[in-house]
Formats: sequence, C-alpha cells, structure tokens
Amino acid sequence: MASTKTLWRIITFFFRKIPMESAFSSLAYILEHLHPTIMTLLSAALFKAAGNCLAGDGGATEIFTYSSAIILYFVAYNILRSFSSICINAGVYEKAMFLLKDDLAEAASRLPLVRFEDGEMLARRKRAQECVQNDRIPGIFMLLIVLTTSVAGILSLLAALWAYHPLLPIIAAASVAQFFLSHWLLEREGYRLEEAVTGRKRQRDYIWSLFTSPGNVKEMRVMGFDGYLADRWKEERDSVNEAQWRLDRKKSRYHLLCDAVKTLGYLTGVAFCLWLVREGMISAPVFGACLVAFASVQDVVGNFFGSLGKIPGFLGLAADYFAFIDDGAPEQEGLLELSEPIRTIELKDVSFRYPHGGKEAVKSVSLTIRQGEVVSLVGVNGSGKTTLVKLLLGIYLPERGEVRYNGTDLRRLRKESLYRHAALLTQDFALYNLTLAENVALADIGRVGDRERVREVLRRVDMDGGLGGAEGWGGCRALRESESQGGGGQEAPGSGGENGDPEIPGSRGEGEGQEAPRSWGEGESQEVPGSRGENGGPEIPGIPGDSGGILGREFGGPAFSEGQKQRLALARVLFADRELVILDEPTSALDPLQENRILEEFLRLSRGRTTIIISHRVGLCRQVDKIAVMQDGSIAEWGSHEQLMAEGGAYKNLYDMQSRWYTDTADAPGGMPVETGCPQKPAETGGRNQDDSHEADHETDQI
Ligand SMILES: Nc1ncnc2c1ncn2[C@@H]1O[C@H](COP(=O)(O)OP(=O)(O)OP(=O)(O)O)[C@@H](O)[C@H]1O
Ligand SMILES: [Mg+2]
Repeated sequence: MASTKTLWRIITFFFRKIPMESAFSSLAYILEHLHPTIMTLLSAALFKAAGNCLAGDGGATEIFTYSSAIILYFVAYNILRSFSSICINAGVYEKAMFLLKDDLAEAASRLPLVRFEDGEMLARRKRAQECVQNDRIPGIFMLLIVLTTSVAGILSLLAALWAYHPLLPIIAAASVAQFFLSHWLLEREGYRLEEAVTGRKRQRDYIWSLFTSPGNVKEMRVMGFDGYLADRWKEERDSVNEAQWRLDRKKSRYHLLCDAVKTLGYLTGVAFCLWLVREGMISAPVFGACLVAFASVQDVVGNFFGSLGKIPGFLGLAADYFAFIDDGAPEQEGLLELSEPIRTIELKDVSFRYPHGGKEAVKSVSLTIRQGEVVSLVGVNGSGKTTLVKLLLGIYLPERGEVRYNGTDLRRLRKESLYRHAALLTQDFALYNLTLAENVALADIGRVGDRERVREVLRRVDMDGGLGGAEGWGGCRALRESESQGGGGQEAPGSGGENGDPEIPGSRGEGEGQEAPRSWGEGESQEVPGSRGENGGPEIPGIPGDSGGILGREFGGPAFSEGQKQRLALARVLFADRELVILDEPTSALDPLQENRILEEFLRLSRGRTTIIISHRVGLCRQVDKIAVMQDGSIAEWGSHEQLMAEGGAYKNLYDMQSRWYTDTADAPGGMPVETGCPQKPAETGGRNQDDSHEADHETDQI
C-alpha cells in the first residue's frame, strides 16, 4: 500500500513538474520496445524474400525493398534514440534532480527546529539525500516507463515467436525469470544495507568534515589526536565500503548465475528450433529468424523481469525521501499577527523534553516578564537556560504549558510576526563568509546600504578600527581610553557611582517611566566610556569588507578572533534594533574590560526594551531588574538582586563565590585585577571570613 502511494507520488511528480520531458521519454521508450518486433518482422520478410530468390522464385525487388526499409528505419531509429537520450539525461534525470534537491532543501528549511534534535530524523534526511544523489526517483520513473511501454512490445514479440511454436516463448521467458528474483533480493538487501550503514556514513562524513575545518585541524595536531581521528575515519569508511563491496560481489555472482541460466535457455532454444526444422515444422531459412526472435524475447523479457525486481528496493529510499519531505511540513502555526509592542511575556507551567532526551530539560516554569524589563538568567551548565529561551521564542513548542505574548498563546501567533519584534544572539552564533556590512545588517538586510548605521553599531561594540593598523580592532584603544578616563586608576569603566556601587550610564533609574526604546544606532549625547568622542579618535578608515570583500581567510578576507566575532554578532543584534533582545552568553569570548564596557553599553541602550541575558557572570545581575536562577530545569529563585541576596539562597551563594574569587586573587601577589566582569564587589559581600581565607589559600596553592 505504502509502495503504491510512493509510486503514485513519483508519477505525479514527473508529469506535473517536467511534463514535456516525461511525455517524450515515454514515447521514446514505446518505440524502443517496439524496435525488436519491427526489426524481427522486417528481417523475417527479408529472409523470406532471400529464400524465395534462392529458390528461383523471384523476390529480388522484395529484397531491395526490405533492405532499404531496414536501413531507413535504422537511421531514423538512431536519430530518435540520441534525441531521446538527451531528453532523458537532461530532463528526467538532471532537471528532476535539481527539483528534488530544491524540495529537500525547502523541506529542511520548513522543518520544525526541534526535529533537528532527533537522531532518527537526521538519519532519514541522510537517506533522503542518498536517494537524490543516487538518482533513485528518476530511476524508478524510468523503470516504470520501461515496464509499461515494454508490455506491448513484449506481447507482440511473444506472439511472433508463438507463431513458430507455442513452446518457444515459454522456454525463452522461463530462461530469464531468475532476473526478477535476483534483482528483487539484491535491491532489497541494498536498501537494508543503506539503512544499516546510515549511522556509520554520518559518522564518517562528520569526521571528514573535521579535517577540513581549520579550527579543528589546529587542535587535532597540537593535541595529537589527528592520527586517532584519521584511523576512526578509515575504520568507518572501510566498514561502509566493505559492506558495500560484499553486496557488489554478491551481485556479480547472482548476475553471472542469471546469465548462465539464460545462455542455457538459449542453447535449449537453438536445439528446439533445429528439431522444428528436422520435423519440417519450420523451413531452414526461417530458422535464423526464429532464433533472432527467441533471443529478442529473452532480452526483452529478461530486462522486464529485472526492472520489475528492482522496484521494491528502489522504493525504500524513495519512501524515505517523501517521508522527509512530509516531515518537513511546517508545524501548525497560528495566524494571529503580533502587531502591537510586547507588553508582557508569560510562561505558564512550561515543560519541555528533547526528542529521545530522557528527562525534562525545562520543568514547570512560570514567570512573567514585562515590557522594558531586563532579566538575567543564571544557573549552572545544563540547568536549562538556553532551552528556556528557545521555548520563549517558540523555536521549540512546550510539551506542557503555554508561552503567552500580550496574553495570547504563542501557538496562535504567526512566528514571523513575533520574530519581527525580537533579536537573538545565540550561544553558538556564526560569522558568515559575507561582507562585514552584510554580517552586521543580516537581520535587516534592506538597510545594508546604510553605511553610517553600520559604522555606528560597529563603533558601539568597538569594532570600527582598521585592520592591521596600530589600533587593531579597537581593543587597545578601549583600554587606553578607559585608562585616561579613569585617571589611570583601577576603576572600571562605568563604575564609580555613589556609595561605590556601579552606576550604569542610562541605567533604570527610580521613577523612570516606560521610555520608548531608542534606536541602537542613534547618536548619544552622553559619551560612552571607551567609545570615540568627537574628534576623540582616528577617523574610521572605512569598513573592511565594505568594498565587497568577503570575510574569512579562505576568501582572502580578514579573519577575526573569537571575541571579535562575538562583538560582530552583538553588532548584528544592535543593527536589528528590536524591542525584545535575547542574548545567550553574549560576552563569553570577550576580555573582561571589553565585556564590562560592552555590556554596560548594551544595558544603557536597552532602556525601554525587554532584554533577557543569559550569563554566568553574576556581577551583571546587579544591573538588571529581575534575576531567574535556574536549577535542573526549574526556576529556583526569581527576584531582584537585593531580594535574592536577602533571601540568602542559591543566587547569594553564587554571587558570594564569584565576588570572593576576585577579591582573593586580587589580594594575592600578582593576582587578578579587581575588575573581571563583575562590575564592583559590594562592600557588604566583599569581606571574607577566616574559614573562607583557608579555602582560598588552599586554592591559590593548588594553582
Ligand atoms: N539537543 C539536545 N538534545 C537532548 N538534550 C539536550 C539537547 N540540548 C540540551 N539538552 C539537555 O537539556 C538540558 C538543558 O540544556 P541547556 O542547553 O538548556 O542548558 P544551559 O543552562 O543553557 O547550559 P549552559 O550553561 O551550558 O549553556 C541539559 O541537560 C542538556 O543535556
Ligand atoms: Mg546554554
């Protein structure tokens, strides 16, 4: 039943998407299959005329007529054949492959993102790719054409042979019946093999990709595991190849056996025809024509059986292809537009488990984030922070519970309309091999030509310097500027508020209304520490990559450090200028000075925007409105810095631990500077007691 459905989909695919080529190929094949019959009839007539001529019974004119007809037919047949082969190769195979690939890519792009976490789905995608690469679907279509168009030819050929003796077609057909069985068995085994080795193929291709990635190669060589990986790759490759070669050897044996039986059948046919001549049932001149007809029946029926036998095996991969395409059907999405600004985001008892993931990654989370709030998500590795953010954005849908925007369930919203309001910096952000301006403006690519805006956001993340010059990519300049502003003291940029607390320029002040979010790129009257003031720095020498240069060494463009890449990714978020900003570990690769400055800049600019920042740097939490502490998928604590410190729970422990680390190491000779991502250690939590000092000394000794 499933096979019939797959067959029907293949037929409709071809006749809908490439009707001309499909129709012509079918016609060409009808002729191809009538060819043996036509040739048999023409040559029989020729032999008969020749026999008559030899018997002195005239026939010279017939000989000329039939010879000319055979030659003309042969020329026409070959011209048509070469035309049809172009049609089949360029049309049925190549064009179909492009279209099938397009559908595959489209299905992958529509696939609900959570499905990419599903190993089984990824294996099916791999088999769907194999199906396209191995031309299985055009192969099945051509087999169907061959089979259907050959029926008329086969019947006429069988009838012609029947005319000599009814046993002849039976012997001829019986001598090639084994082709069906062998192809059926072998193709079925081929598909099972494909299923069995898909995992190994994926592993093999994955290891190969490591050798072509410059970052991996460096680590492999220095750490000395390139040899191990090369051996693993060879192992996977050999195991896949060995299984394939075993099947190929089996195929050769089966084909040899099939041909031997066919030859035996032919010899039986020859003996039978000789007996017919001896018995006077056919004349000696007809003997030749009879043998030609017998051999033709063997070929045509043998091919028919072989093609028929191949179909079930071929259909396996085709079914995987269509299953993947169907899998790629977009998840049911709501139709409601989120046209108003986001006033509230509510998570109501939200739980989620990854496909085949075992325990829940997020468990019964309920919280409300209001417009303009800055929320920090903290928690140990694997506590569910990233997953929660993905649920919040509808990247994954909750297994239980609801995510609501302005009171409307996310499921009822059109995702695209939500994403117009949101900017996301993921933990595994990417810098693309495109121009710098494109990299920055990707989320709002229509404005890529707005060079001033691109420069402005690059300036915000201190990436506006020239490459290779003394300024480098801004890090050094920021350091110098901050030093000069701070009078050369140890004060961190942006610190120095009253009471020693860090005062963030533009931070959420008391009594501040819900100020409309300002554009990230808009000029600020207030100078940002570390940023360029009027005449305060060298002219921006132009944006590298601006003139069309593609980033990345492999394209002859500049390469960046991880921190610089992260800053560019941040610039992308700034450029997008959305009211909801979500940053997952936005500064993990930045040096402490840059981290502090850029975070402060971000928070200042995010006034009026709803911002969610995941960070392991708890010091940041002093500057946000709400903190969610995640533990084992749940929200263990929720509140402001002051509230959570007063509660004395997990957050306080985390904060004290990080504060202590900075203080202790700073106290130690040659220790770390005070400021490393924790803006300023509050006096009340800064002291360490006697017991702590033992612990810390011990740690220092260890180091
Ligand atoms: N693709 C996945 N498939 C199955 N389980 C996953 C997947 N991604 C994450 N998990 C599991 O979900 C849990 C939460 O992961 P998550 O990435 O949300 O943690 P996190 O708090 O962001 O951690 P980190 O601080 O390391 O970024 C973990 O136990 C993790 O093993
Ligand atoms: Mg994470």
